Amino acid sequence: MEVVTKIADLQKKIAEIRTNGGTVGLVPTMGALHNGHLELVKRCVAENSICVVSVFVNPTQFNDKNDLLHYPRTLDADCKLLESAGCAIAFAPEVEEMYPVEDTRVFNLGAVAEVMEGKYRPGHFNGVAQIVSKLFDAVQPDRAYFGEKDFQQIAVIRSMVKLLNYPVEIVACPIVREDDGMALSSRNLRLTPEQRKNAVSISQTLFKSRTFAEQHSVAETIDYVVNTLNSVTDLDVEYFEIVNGNTLLSVNDWSDSDYIVGCITVYCGEVRLIDNIAYRR
Ligand code: PAJ
Repeated sequence: MEVVTKIADLQKKIAEIRTNGGTVGLVPTMGALHNGHLELVKRCVAENSICVVSVFVNPTQFNDKNDLLHYPRTLDADCKLLESAGCAIAFAPEVEEMYPVEDTRVFNLGAVAEVMEGKYRPGHFNGVAQIVSKLFDAVQPDRAYFGEKDFQQIAVIRSMVKLLNYPVEIVACPIVREDDGMALSSRNLRLTPEQRKNAVSISQTLFKSRTFAEQHSVAETIDYVVNTLNSVTDLDVEYFEIVNGNTLLSVNDWSDSDYIVGCITVYCGEVRLIDNIAYRR
């Protein structure tokens, strides 16, 4: 595996692969890699001639500067994991390489970028679109891999791909969970052992809500999830919405769509955790 920090070097290496007719897959990450990321990498390796993984903590998507400051940076460990997963190129640029000048672009990505995370983290998805578009321009991947853990992010990326006519296939990969059901996240490491024990209620309540939903309305299911989680020590639900999986607009009735997903954000102490579950697919 090669570790590259400059776009020009990255493009030279990729050009060599392309002249031989190979395909290029890209997995964008912010590093601090865990098995959730590695599942994306393994799938990318299996489906393309080469897999490029970007490791870049993108400053423009952090609306909370404290969060950016505390974001874990573990490049050496990340590179070891990437190499063993079969990644060909790790692209780990400095901020100045990706943003030689301020990026003032504002993307109009529609409702998918405005609801839920869009409402609670203003500017976040615009920053995601800025960096992912720069990565797509640099790598020109045939396929790019994203995790369903960040369910809304995938919808936003698909919207950006349409807006900018990128010839890239967006591949959505299932959520990787711990044995107890908790969705893997680099943020889990910031939980105390006590908080971690309480946080498992998030996924467990989502799983139970699937059975609950068989006998109850959408509104009742929302109340069930929110009330159950708010009664757990340390947990504070920011939002829980049950939405059409394509448009991300709220549904009123289970018959409104054949693709329905519940998306949740919960504070566990200071740590903001997200998860989601499909009710109909
Ligand atoms: P990051 O949080 O590092 O996540 C990189 C990719 O890994 C995302 O597509 C995310 O959905 C996926 N991922 C994380 N945890 C997962 C899990 N438990 N199961 C499945 N997939 C998981 O998302 C970002 O970085 C950034 O916004 C980025 C797209 C890189 C742009 O900066």
